[in-house]
Amino acid sequence: MRAVVYTETGPSSVLHLVDRPVPEPGPGEVRVRLVRAGVNPTDWKFRAVMGSDFDEVAPGQDGAGVVDALGEGVTDLAVGDRVWLVLAQYQRPYGTAVDQTVQPAAFVTKLPEGVSYDVGADLGVPAVTAHRALTSGDVDRLAPGTMAGTTVLVAGGAGAVGNAAVQLAVWAGATVVTTVSSDEKAALARAAGAHHVVDYTTQDVVAAVREVAPDGVDLVVEVSPAQNIGIDVEVVRNHGTIAYYANNGGDSFSMPVRETFSKNLRFQGLIVYTLDRELLAHALEDVTAAVAAGAFHVGEEAGLPLHRYPLERLAEAHDAVEGGVVGKVLIDISDD
Ligand SMILES: NC(=O)c1ccc[n+]([C@@H]2O[C@H](COP(=O)([O-])OP(=O)(O)OC[C@H]3O[C@@H](n4cnc5c(N)ncnc54)[C@H](OP(=O)(O)O)[C@@H]3O)[C@@H](O)[C@H]2O)c1
Repeated sequence: MRAVVYTETGPSSVLHLVDRPVPEPGPGEVRVRLVRAGVNPTDWKFRAVMGSDFDEVAPGQDGAGVVDALGEGVTDLAVGDRVWLVLAQYQRPYGTAVDQTVQPAAFVTKLPEGVSYDVGADLGVPAVTAHRALTSGDVDRLAPGTMAGTTVLVAGGAGAVGNAAVQLAVWAGATVVTTVSSDEKAALARAAGAHHVVDYTTQDVVAAVREVAPDGVDLVVEVSPAQNIGIDVEVVRNHGTIAYYANNGGDSFSMPVRETFSKNLRFQGLIVYTLDRELLAHALEDVTAAVAAGAFHVGEEAGLPLHRYPLERLAEAHDAVEGGVVGKVLIDISDD
C-alpha cells in the first residue's frame, strides 16, 4: 500500500511516498481503507518540531473510509462499515496518510448514512476539540437544547476548530458570538451559523460582546489566550468558564487574581490526545449525533472552504495548513 512518511523531523520536504505492506489488525483493532484524510496543525507541528518515538511516521490523526478487516473480538463494527477516525496516529507510527490504517476499534466510529467522507475527515481533531471546549462549563453533553439559554464566545470562528465549535454550539441551542479578523472570515463565521460576528481588528470586542450578553457570556472557547485573556475575563459572567486549546499568538498569559476569583471563574485547558477516554467517548457520540441530524457540514456554505490534495502531495497540504489557509485541507486517498 502507499504511505507518505517521514523519518526525521524537519520541513515538509522530509515527507516522501513509499510502498509498505498492508497491515493486519490485532485483537480489538480494525483496518480501514481510507477514502479521505483531514490535515490539522498538529500534523505539521509534530513533523516539524515535536518529533516522534517511531523510526518512521505516516502522519495524520483524522480520516474517513471503509472498514476492510476486523481483528479478534471486535463485534460492534463490520467489514463494509463507513467510518470516521480519531487520534489515528496517537501512540502508533501510521496514521491516515496511507491507503489502509489499523486502529483500535474505540477510535473508529460509524459515519451516519448519507454523511460524506469529507465531513468524516473533518470531525476528529476539530470537532472533538470543540466538543470538549463546549462541555467544559455547566453543560456536559451536547444535544439539541442542552445549551439553550447560554451564550458562547468562540474566538476565531473561521478557524477549523472555531467552525466546529460554532456549528456544535448552534446545534445545542446556544447563542453564539464569534470573533474574526476580516470581512471574508466574517462571512464564513455567519455561514457556520454564528448569530453575532465581531471583527476583533476593527471593533471593541468587549463592548460588542456585552451588547449581546450584558451579564457576560457563559463560556469562552479560546484559541489565543495569550492575546485574548484580558477580553475573556471581562466578558465572561460570574461562574463562567474559559476553555482554551491553543497557544496561537503566544505561549503564556497572566490574569488578574482578584478579578478572576471574584468572578468564580473556571479555566479549562484541553488537548485531544490525553483527553479522558470517557469524555472522548461522549464527544464521539455527540458529534456523530450532530452529523446524523444534519447539523454539521463542511464547505464554503458551512463556513469551511475545502482544499483538496492527492496523497502524494501531502507535503503541499502540510504547507498550506502551516501557512494558515482558511478552511479545511483534505487528502483524497481513494474513490468513495
Ligand atoms: N488542544 C488541542 O487538542 C487542539 C486541537 C485542535 C487544534 N489545536 C490548535 O488550535 C489552533 C487552531 O487550530 P485550527 O485547526 O482551528 O487552525 P486554523 O483553522 O488555522 O484556525 C486558527 C484560527 O485562530 C484564529 N485566531 C488566531 N489568533 C486569534 C486571536 N487573537 N483572536 C481571535 N482569533 C484568533 C485565526 O483567525 P484570524 O487569522 O482571523 O485571527 C484562525 O481562524 C492550532 O494552534 C492547533 O494546533 C489544539
